[in-house]
Amino acid sequence: EKARANGASAFSFPEVEAGVDANHHVAEGYNADVLLRWGDALFPDSPAFDPAKQTAEAQRRQFGYNNDYVGFIPLEGSSTHGLLVVNHEYTNPHLMFPGIVKIVDGKISQDKLSKEQVDVEMAAHGGTIVEIRKVDGKWQVVPEGIHNRRITSTTEMQLTGPVAGHDRVKTSADTTGTRVIGTLNNCAGGVTPWGTYIMAEENFHGYFSGDLPEGHKEAANYKRYGVPEGSYEWGNYYDRFDLSKEPNEPNRFGWIVEVDVMDPTATPKKRTALGRTKHEGAASIVSKDGRVVFYLGDDERFDYVYKFVTSGTLNATDRAANLDLLDEGTLYVAKFAEDGTFQWLPLVFGQGPLTAENGFASQADVLIETRRAADMLGATKMDRPEDIEPNAVNGKVYVMLTNNSKRKADQVDAANPRAENAFGHIIEITEEGGDFAATSGKWEVLLKCGDPTVAEVGATFSTETSKNGWFGMPDNCAVDSAGRLWVSTDGNSNKATGRTDGLWAVDTEGDARATSRLFFRVPVGAELCGPLFAPDDETAFVAVQHPGDGGDDWAGHGRPSYYEDLSTRWPDFKDDMPVRPSVLAITKIGGGKIGV
Ligand code: FEO
Ligand code: CA
Ligand code: CA
Ligand code: CA
Repeated sequence: EKARANGASAFSFPEVEAGVDANHHVAEGYNADVLLRWGDALFPDSPAFDPAKQTAEAQRRQFGYNNDYVGFIPLEGSSTHGLLVVNHEYTNPHLMFPGIVKIVDGKISQDKLSKEQVDVEMAAHGGTIVEIRKVDGKWQVVPEGIHNRRITSTTEMQLTGPVAGHDRVKTSADTTGTRVIGTLNNCAGGVTPWGTYIMAEENFHGYFSGDLPEGHKEAANYKRYGVPEGSYEWGNYYDRFDLSKEPNEPNRFGWIVEVDVMDPTATPKKRTALGRTKHEGAASIVSKDGRVVFYLGDDERFDYVYKFVTSGTLNATDRAANLDLLDEGTLYVAKFAEDGTFQWLPLVFGQGPLTAENGFASQADVLIETRRAADMLGATKMDRPEDIEPNAVNGKVYVMLTNNSKRKADQVDAANPRAENAFGHIIEITEEGGDFAATSGKWEVLLKCGDPTVAEVGATFSTETSKNGWFGMPDNCAVDSAGRLWVSTDGNSNKATGRTDGLWAVDTEGDARATSRLFFRVPVGAELCGPLFAPDDETAFVAVQHPGDGGDDWAGHGRPSYYEDLSTRWPDFKDDMPVRPSVLAITKIGGGKIGV
């Protein structure tokens, strides 16, 4: 490793060489061990994974597809024994089901999915709660763990908070407007200070198809959320995903879901007080006065940054007393001013424009149409807000803004300073008085991302950042217990630049600020999710999502691939095994804190 000219960096590890190939790479001196792959057993009775004979029944007992958020809930305060909670965001049928992609007359075509395949997809979505333990320095799954659970797109859930029971969430299957079947597109998430698991519902629009009845009252609402987008085939077999048959069903998705992991029979709750958006995640922190603050990104071009502050305060000695904290509080949306200040604007029925004259009859309407309410308040239209992470050590908050190629030159503002923002940026927030529950504060751009050697990109990585250290498209992030920022990306995998997504360590303090270095990179076609540090900082969990997607053309995911002709067989590298999204546990050889 070349000695760093600037000794102020908070990180010390030999940087990984950027590149692209069939495998993952971690910094020298570290192990990256596969902990959980799609199809792995979670229970003593889980069937062995057989890609040629997949069933929904088996999938409901196995680790799901496309792992995204990773959280760790310690058991008895341990850093080496706890519950790993993992979201399964979406499915890639072209990578999952052998033989469905073909070339017909020189064109790529994909077979219509059977009902059985759709059922496998539904069972591969959702989340996993699984006990894990570190034994002799290696993490292992505990299939007998009494808390182990799969949550899927068919798990019954309860709607709670101001929207529960409202007419706009009633359907023919649920005339109470309180019981929803399943959760969709759980991207990032969170673990609350009282030890529950948060699953954010993000791109729910893709699961709906069909046409709303002519003149239906939800038409404008659904248009604002891009419903229906119809990239899934579930509506062919399940009426609830067909708008012509169940027009209110989309109002039951786009929420923050809370799961009490200590009771494997507990009904997950959709906490409507936190608003309805394409929720990226919900990282949280306790404010000075004990209220709990959740930071929420709405991942769409020109959508907003939100936060939710509970009305009640955390009860540190009685866990049960916190279990409905998320039903009462204030949802705010951010307005960033040109002078480096910002305000949190409350989304409260009856305040400002959120009144009957503007079509809001109650707080339920404000929450169902969170985006329209935020539009009316004049919030700042951002470049796709992804993960937002508070930092308990330095009191700041980091906002990942992944990219926005559609921002025009006359639409730039101080908080979104680049037109055609292909590479994204990171904003650092300082709440007024260092109080996370404050309603105003200051902000600055920490980093404009992209290749700093290409002048027109306008990236602002420090000059200490090497050719491996720059990145674009920040998506997920983590703050370790030393307060250091780690950023993972979605969109760098590109044949032309010869790079992939990965995990970068980003300095935020002193002379080293905006210095970045590559710690881990993914196999071809993948993006990197997680990341998450164990409480002792001796393990970094990372989630490799959609490995191999894109086949020979890996410039971005969502491209056709062929089960028979994958560009990688990661992580098994066996001919009879497809690529498998997997969670890895990264540890230092010989033990110790990561990146120190
Ligand atoms: Fe699922 Fe916003 O990434
Ligand atoms: Ca994400
Ligand atoms: Ca995070
Ligand atoms: Ca992503």
